[in-house]
Amino acid sequence: MNNFATIIDTERDDMRVAYVQNDNVDYLELFNRFLANEANHHLLDPSDKPERFTYLINHDDTKYIFKIDGGVEHRLERKLIAKITGDFYFNLIHKLATLSLNHCDIAYELYLVAYDKRSKRHYMIFNFIEGRSLSKDDMHTYADQIKHCIETLHSYNLVSNDIHGGNFILTPEGKIKVIDLTNSGFIWLTKANDAIELRDRFNIKIKVPFFAMFLKKIAHGYKTLSRKLRGKEV
Ligand SMILES: Nc1ncnc2c1ncn2[C@@H]1O[C@H](COP(=O)(O)OP(=O)(O)O)[C@@H](O)[C@H]1O
Ligand SMILES: [Mg+2]
Repeated sequence: MNNFATIIDTERDDMRVAYVQNDNVDYLELFNRFLANEANHHLLDPSDKPERFTYLINHDDTKYIFKIDGGVEHRLERKLIAKITGDFYFNLIHKLATLSLNHCDIAYELYLVAYDKRSKRHYMIFNFIEGRSLSKDDMHTYADQIKHCIETLHSYNLVSNDIHGGNFILTPEGKIKVIDLTNSGFIWLTKANDAIELRDRFNIKIKVPFFAMFLKKIAHGYKTLSRKLRGKEV
């Protein structure tokens, strides 16, 4: 059983690893096996982002998703935020563990996250969610569940940052789960972005803190002003 209350954080050589303690599955061992045999795994989805890879693996009759994110952040403000708030994925494993402890079944589970300081790659092991991605029509059909899902996510200070059908899974039991939570920089701005995407693209209205929308307006005003000052089109 996964013990989401105990997340082991270790460091060896150039690798930092954090993983959920489990008496039956040693995620560290699973990760090492994956690394030793990376090239032979089944690539699930040839991503449109060149530095990201998603693999499906089978271990002891259980399916897992292995994800590699080799994206390096160059934007100064994001680097600064990361310095203050800590690594996004290492925070994510703790936040998602809290969701699991609260039996809040709206997202994927994250069992291990690793960061290789040399290659600057993040590695992750998630649970595999049986089901299918949502089509554009599904986004309308399941609007209430999607609303609940993102509002709950926001209440844990998590954001999607990339709202589209491919980042939701409809399970055979008819539940909606969100996957592919990404680095957002300013969390409050991203809450507002999620809300705007949902409203404008799918006509789904979620509750979003007034403060988030306020910040979004300021940020938008600043962007417009900065472009005007640089003589660019707004
Ligand atoms: N935990 C998961 N369970 C089931 N399928 C998944 C899971 N994670 C990813 N997938 C599948 O792989 C696809 C790509 O994964 P995603 O995390 O969205 O990567 P990308 O960053 O390339 O968008 C998803 O659209 C989904 O079909
Ligand atoms: Mg995706």
